[in-house]
Amino acid sequence: MSKAKKKKEKQLKHLNTRKILDELAFGLTVPTAEPAKQYFYMNLCKQYLARKKQEAGKEFTFCIRTFGCQMNAKDSEKLKGILLEIGYTQIDSEDADFVLYNTCTVRENANLKVYGHLGYLQNLKQKNPDKLIALCGCMMQEEHVVKKIKESYRFVDIVFGTHNIYLLSELLWKRFYSGKMVVDIWDKAQQIVEDLPSCRDYSFKSGVNIMYGCNNFCSYCIVPYVRGRERSRKPEDIIAEVKKLADEGVVEVMLLGQNVNSYGKTLEQPISFAELLKMVEEVDGIKRIRFMTPHPKDLSEELIQVMKYSKKICRQMHLPLQSGSTAILKDMNRRYTKEQYLALVERIKQEIPDVSLSTDIIVGYPGETEEDFQDTIDVVRKVQYDSAFTFIYSKRTGTPAAAQENQVPDDVVKERFSRLLQEISLASAACLKKHLGKTMEVLVEEMSSEDGIVTGRLSNNTLVHFAGDRTLIGKTVNVKLEEDKGFYYIGTQIN
Ligand code: SAH
Ligand code: SF4
Ligand code: F3S
Repeated sequence: MSKAKKKKEKQLKHLNTRKILDELAFGLTVPTAEPAKQYFYMNLCKQYLARKKQEAGKEFTFCIRTFGCQMNAKDSEKLKGILLEIGYTQIDSEDADFVLYNTCTVRENANLKVYGHLGYLQNLKQKNPDKLIALCGCMMQEEHVVKKIKESYRFVDIVFGTHNIYLLSELLWKRFYSGKMVVDIWDKAQQIVEDLPSCRDYSFKSGVNIMYGCNNFCSYCIVPYVRGRERSRKPEDIIAEVKKLADEGVVEVMLLGQNVNSYGKTLEQPISFAELLKMVEEVDGIKRIRFMTPHPKDLSEELIQVMKYSKKICRQMHLPLQSGSTAILKDMNRRYTKEQYLALVERIKQEIPDVSLSTDIIVGYPGETEEDFQDTIDVVRKVQYDSAFTFIYSKRTGTPAAAQENQVPDDVVKERFSRLLQEISLASAACLKKHLGKTMEVLVEEMSSEDGIVTGRLSNNTLVHFAGDRTLIGKTVNVKLEEDKGFYYIGTQIN
């Protein structure tokens, strides 16, 4: 078929689609308030999809790929909730009729991965005329990314950002109606929309957003630019969500925010993060409370005391260090010194002796000298982290650090990185030894890849493997920790 004829046929097909959509929406008024407006579009998309399913005599499937942190994982659960409501069926394959990438841009390699996958999707789209491709998340908040997609990835159908994920059904409807790429990026958040569908990845544990955005502007970090300014959810909305989760059988919640220690400061009725924790502790049915991420500069004595006396807050603290050098920390705009960080760790260990500490460290920040790096190693030795996420510094366009000229050569960074890894594995192996032989409570999460073995976590987040079956998933059991495998234990169930 000639190109012109193909185009004509496509136009005719689209006119037909538009006729169906007009019929479905005829006489209806679009609600102005949220979330009513979104339920309205979900319902319209659902009716349209039902017709398509009937015509094709098949299910319409979706697949979401999530890159990045827990914030994105949580957003993906909300997006999944909307797509299920519309009538799509979830599968774990990019062959799906609707493929959505929820992207991350915190480091260059997260970003490159998405472009790599897009080429593959284009091939699949040529084989399936119903296929839709959508991109959302942090990467889409960057102007140069959206420009590139509009120019070089014309086959993408929907592009949206971090501030308007709740609009998915409305954008899908617009895409059906226009037949063209729909791009909707907001440069800042407008409102926090509550009460939309969500579909959890686990039945027994769940993330709960307590705040969005970040005001800290660490000099290397793109998050404040792509996630906007700090906004806290009202405590009553958070508690209502936690209660609902508990009613549905969730026993562990992870309170999520880029800097949970500044939670509640900008609310009409300010409240501290420690006060919020006490309220969550009161919710019946919740057995474990975790949180991510506390910024060391804002970690209060009040929080340490609440943790100390809590029966539910897990014995785990993720306390990002980034660098052990006071000079580098200053340049990073972290607003604490090496000594202040170490003093804070001492205080936490003193009050909560069984706490396990984990961290994030960046190697090769611009201007990092061997001496600076030795300070990082020194902190790692002194703190003895149970685990650490280590990153090679990645230049992010638009951040102050990216403009610095004294970038560290790749070979120097790689060499420091491997020395750091070695140091960290020594510390985590030593931490694991501390609990060997004890009997501790494990929340069972899933079947392991090995037959007849389940995997769960201690309160301090360490993994434990032991003999068990599917019925244990979501339950807490006592397990004797018998063998240490470097980063997890093998044990035996006691009760
Ligand atoms: N809000 C959290 C971290 C969010 S980003 C906090 O303040 O700790 C997660 C981690 O990615 C950061 O802790 C940091 O270690 C790392 N990171 C952020 N930007 C980076 C960059 N440009 N290069 C390398 N690692 C980076
Ligand atoms: Fe990024 Fe710093 Fe905000 Fe964490 S606190 S998200 S590292 S700017
Ligand atoms: Fe990535 Fe965005 Fe999280 S940039 S780390 S997904 S906030």
